[in-house]
Order: sequence, then C-alpha cells, then structure tokens
Amino acid sequence: MKVLVTGGCGFIGSNVVDAYLDEGYDVAVVDDLSTGKKENINPKAQLYICDICKEEVEEVFLKERPDIVNHHAAQISVPFSVQDPLFDAEVNIKGIIRLLMLSIKYKVKKFIFSSTGGAIYGEADIVPTKEDYVPEPASPYAISKLSSEKYIKFFFNHYGLDYTILRYSNVYGPRQIPHGEAGVVAIFTEKLINGIHPTLNHFPDAPQGMIRDYCYVKDVARANIIATKNKKTGIFNIGTGKGTTTIALYKEIVKILRENGVSIPQTFDEPIRATARPGDIRVSTLNVEKAEKELGWIAIYDIRKGLSETIDWYLKK
Ligand SMILES: NC(=O)c1ccc[n+]([C@@H]2O[C@H](COP(=O)([O-])OP(=O)(O)OC[C@H]3O[C@@H](n4cnc5c(N)ncnc54)[C@H](O)[C@@H]3O)[C@@H](O)[C@H]2O)c1
Repeated sequence: MKVLVTGGCGFIGSNVVDAYLDEGYDVAVVDDLSTGKKENINPKAQLYICDICKEEVEEVFLKERPDIVNHHAAQISVPFSVQDPLFDAEVNIKGIIRLLMLSIKYKVKKFIFSSTGGAIYGEADIVPTKEDYVPEPASPYAISKLSSEKYIKFFFNHYGLDYTILRYSNVYGPRQIPHGEAGVVAIFTEKLINGIHPTLNHFPDAPQGMIRDYCYVKDVARANIIATKNKKTGIFNIGTGKGTTTIALYKEIVKILRENGVSIPQTFDEPIRATARPGDIRVSTLNVEKAEKELGWIAIYDIRKGLSETIDWYLKK
C-alpha cells in the first residue's frame, strides 16, 4: 500500500512517515522544505521537493499512484496567518483543493487530513471540547483549517472520496520547530538548554498561563496509522483530554533538564512574564471519547514520559 505524505519533512509529518514505514507501507513525501528539513526524512521514503500549490505536484501523483494521501503540509503559524491571511489561504485552502482534485483524478482511496482541535473551537464554553461543538475559529489559520474540512466533506459527498480528519490538540515531541502552531515545548526547551531565560505569556488574571492539552507526537503518528487502516470516515479529536497550565509545563521541563545534568540557574525557576498575545486562547482541551470508541485510539504517553523523550532528543541533537 502506497501512502503519499505531504509535509513529510516537517515535525509531525516526519514522525508519521516513520510510523508508516514501521508498519510496512511504501511512503512517498512531497515537501517544499519551507519549514521542514531534509534530515528529518527517513531514507526509505521517496522524497519529492515540490510545492503543493504548484501544478508540478501532479507529476508526483502520476509517478507514485498513491492509495492514501496523508496531508500534513501547511502554513502552520497562527500569528503569521494574522499578518498575511492571503498567503495562509493560498497554501492551506488552495493547496488542499489541488490535492483533493488530484486524489479524485488518480483514484486515491482515502484522504487523511491534519486539522486543529487546538485552534478550531476558539475559546469554547465547554471543555474538554467535543467534535460536535460549533467551531469558532479565531484566526485565519483556524478558518483555513475549518474550510479545508468543508472541502474534504464536499469531495466525499460529491465524488465519494473517503476521508478521516484528525483534529490535533497541542502536539509536541522530537523535531518540533519553535514557531509552529504549538511550539511552547520547543521554545522553553531550546532556550533553557542555551542558557536563555524563557518568557511566559499570560492574561493578567491567569498568572499560571494558558491551559492546553499536550499530546505526544508518537501518539499522534499512531492515530494516523489507525485512521489509515480503519474504514471510518469522519472527524476525530486527537489529544489527551487533560489540561496542563503553561507554568506547570515550564516547571516540568526545568525539572527534567536538571535531572539530565543541564545547569539551570535558580533565577530561572520562574519564567519572565509577558502579556498574552492577540488571538491567544485561555483554555483548550479536547474530549477524545469518540476516537477511543470508534477508532480504538487513546494517548499512551503522559506529559512526563513525553517530555522526557523529547528532552532526551534535544540533548542528543
Ligand atoms: N504542531 C501542532 O501542535 C499542530 C496542531 C494541530 C494541527 N497541526 C497540523 O499538523 C500539520 C503539520 O504541522 P507541524 O507542526 O509538523 O509543522 P511543520 O512546519 O513542521 O510541518 C509542515 C511541513 O509542510 C511543509 N510545507 C509547508 N508548505 C508547503 C507547501 N506549499 N508545499 C509543500 N510542503 C509544504 C513544510 O516544509 C513542513 O515540512 C500542519 O497541517 C498543521 O497545521 C499541527
């Protein structure tokens, strides 16, 4: 079975590629290396350096004839989407439409899409939030992800293209870059290792910071394998269902780094404080019962185990 992973040189995509190869799939990757890195890619995968927005991407479909398209390529920065919503829409909306059209033309059996549970629901009144909560996207990035979901549903209804949409919470782990959708683990870890005092952004009445559902990338990669094997069509939240404050996350990272022999001054026990940024959401956690019930998927890594593996990777880098 051949899988085409778009964005396979990026943080999550490259971990998904590894998981597919471990399961014996043939894997081809399309990536323009705008944020992804060649060194992330498993040598067993066939890499095409190509922009999903360009016509040339059809050559990859023609040559590889994938059974499954797993779409991870995206403009991933929420603040950048606010600065340049047009560019965000070019990549995140027009890009997916091109891939969906090619999937029909080349008779792809299933389309898997990485959406965002962390951004799509906005500041939800009900947390952990379920898939049927009416999304209130608060940024062009989240709007483009919601609109991608609607295009996928159109291609399913109109052409019968099977799909699974995975709405990720805040994903963290090896190969993460600091400026993505949910880069706080990468930001804190890289700064602390390099002796730089990190900053915690928070609302004035919430000094503990935001509350987020941190999900380890290997759990996310496993969800993609299950979605590939499973016949289910639909939208599934992928997260842990648990909330962690930014300050608790910070302290856990400091603790694990010190346990690993990294010298961190006492003055760093508390981060520098700064105000929340426009578009910041106070609380975001996902109800993941549907994924457990219908896909048989549940996050295995707790935050301590996931952070330990992540920090281990940063220290060996
Ligand atoms: N990181 C998270 O917590 C999170 C949460 C929810 C959803 N997501 C989604 O998961 C996916 C992967 O995110 P990530 O955090 O691994 O980001 P990433 O930047 O590491 O990966 C994105 C990859 O897509 C590639 N890419 C970007 N534009 C492209 C284009 N036009 N053509 C071809 N390749 C292109 C980049 O080079 C990169 O390798 C994205 O769709 C993102 O929206 C991420």
